[in-house]
Amino acid sequence: MTDPDQHARALAAEAAADNDATGWFERLYAEAEAGDATVPWDTKVPHPLLVEWADAVQLQGGGEPALVIGCGYGDDAEFAAARGFDVTAFDVSPSAIAGVRDRFPGSSVHYVAADLFELPPAWRQAYQLVIEIFTVQALPVRLREAAVAAISETVAPGGRLIVIQRRRPDGPVPDGPPWPLTRADIDLFTANGLVADQIELLPDADGNGARWRAEFRRPG
Ligand SMILES: C[S@@+](CC[C@H](N)C(=O)[O-])C[C@H]1O[C@@H](n2cnc3c(N)ncnc32)[C@H](O)[C@@H]1O
Repeated sequence: MTDPDQHARALAAEAAADNDATGWFERLYAEAEAGDATVPWDTKVPHPLLVEWADAVQLQGGGEPALVIGCGYGDDAEFAAARGFDVTAFDVSPSAIAGVRDRFPGSSVHYVAADLFELPPAWRQAYQLVIEIFTVQALPVRLREAAVAAISETVAPGGRLIVIQRRRPDGPVPDGPPWPLTRADIDLFTANGLVADQIELLPDADGNGARWRAEFRRPG
């Protein structure tokens, strides 16, 4: 089988040639559901930097609404539900949503197919916890400001947003995907009514790059 990263890039390149930034996700997940491809970011565990942060802040919900952006196969959503939140998790790919419902049949998480750029108006400032891991960096740079604005807009007054992304080193914008984030990209979240509580730059486990882990809150 082709290398999963290379295959995902090839699908993304085809989509980009059609000026379609998100259509390749559905193609990839549909192939994966048919057993013909592997989703390269499907680690089958919640992101370790999310777990570490949750432990550090003693994250414990009491039924508050939480939203997971670009949830893929749902491990971060299930983690938030296990921490006591009433979780909605969405992805642009209907096949991903079908797959995650099969993976977690008894889940309390509300899995929904939805496009970040056309979110239901009822989701506006509705969530006490919002988790965004690797969706922004999976979208071309020209969509960055709109993606950040749409994510920020879901955070309720008094709510918090945790963001985990690759850091973009100095130099030209990569061909992508992914399109990692600069510090200025991370700061875009504060241009949308949020304040930063913590912005960390953490080395990757293999020492080959770094990740942003940033926590924001909407005053209220
Ligand atoms: C790199 S994957 C990361 C998935 C998951 N957050 C994780 O960390 O494993 C990016 C995810 O965002 C989803 N996605 C991309 N564009 C989106 C959009 N416009 N609206 C909703 N989801 C989107 C993709 O289908 C994919 O599942």
